[in-house]
Amino acid sequence: MPSLSTSLLLLGTAASKVLAHSHLAHILVNGVLYNGFDPRPNIANFPNRVGWSSSNTDDGYVGPADYASPEIICHKSGAPPLAHAPVKAGEKVHVQWNGWPIGHVGPVLAYIAPCLNTPNGCGSVAKTNLRWTKLDDSNPVLVPGAPGNWGSPAGKWATDVMIAQNNSWQVEIPRGLKPGPYVLRHEIIALHFAKDKGGAQNYPVCMNLWVEAPASSVPAPQPFKLDSFDARAFYKDTDKGILIDVSTSLTGYVVPGPTVAPQARPVAHGQQQMMLSRADGTPVVVVSSTATRKWTPTGGAVKRTAEPVVKGRYFRD
Ligand SMILES: *[C@@H]1O[C@H](CO)[C@@H](O)[C@H](O)[C@H]1NC(C)=O
Repeated sequence: MPSLSTSLLLLGTAASKVLAHSHLAHILVNGVLYNGFDPRPNIANFPNRVGWSSSNTDDGYVGPADYASPEIICHKSGAPPLAHAPVKAGEKVHVQWNGWPIGHVGPVLAYIAPCLNTPNGCGSVAKTNLRWTKLDDSNPVLVPGAPGNWGSPAGKWATDVMIAQNNSWQVEIPRGLKPGPYVLRHEIIALHFAKDKGGAQNYPVCMNLWVEAPASSVPAPQPFKLDSFDARAFYKDTDKGILIDVSTSLTGYVVPGPTVAPQARPVAHGQQQMMLSRADGTPVVVVSSTATRKWTPTGGAVKRTAEPVVKGRYFRD
């Protein structure tokens, strides 16, 4: 019988070679679907997708060697689509990954960044200008000793929770967030090879959101205070949560990167749930009118199926 660490290695190898890895399949807002981006070759992606494109045709990852490069921001050659998924402040975005290998244990993280002073919301944002606020660190990332999906000697990981919910995770958009265009960055850091420096695997996926005022103005939302972290400074290859041997029994896990903003409300592990779509969404595309600096949607060109075109709903000064 192979030793635990050999099995772990085999699992990791099998996962990386056979299952490939993963990408953002879609997001749901109140059960309404907006498409992600599939980077694999010969895939026709939906023109109305809200997921950023990337060049990781192997469905792979960004490694610690790229922690200071733009690749870590929204994956390799990450580029924004024009479309945004409308979501009310205070609602949850259900992030659906296209599967997740059980051996790829680690944290599940969420960050948000406003797209400021751009002509098309996040559709024409320069990613290096994005400044991020952490909304969720999937705490507790590791429950030491608890059984996970594959019997990790360390315990149960946030990725085990995510896999149990059909590889999905919910992120609450803060109720006090100022309406406007934002990039949501969801990221899983797989630690199966993280025992060696440079062995961690980051899977950042970005998607455009169009945040609207909360469903009810009562009580008035507390303005949400954004942070301004640069993704190129999130992680170091020697961070405790990046250089770590997950084949040993651990007493806990130190989440890498900035701390979660105090006003953010991560969805607890026990509240995570899988979700089916009930309809296709109509994304918002913004085009500038430089004279007035208003944002106008054009739904028609980016629709996936025959949904009603929503016009004139999404304006901001
Ligand atoms: C599970 O996720 C897949 C995408 O990876 C999706 O097509 C399917 O509808 C989801 N099933 C449920 C029950 O959420």
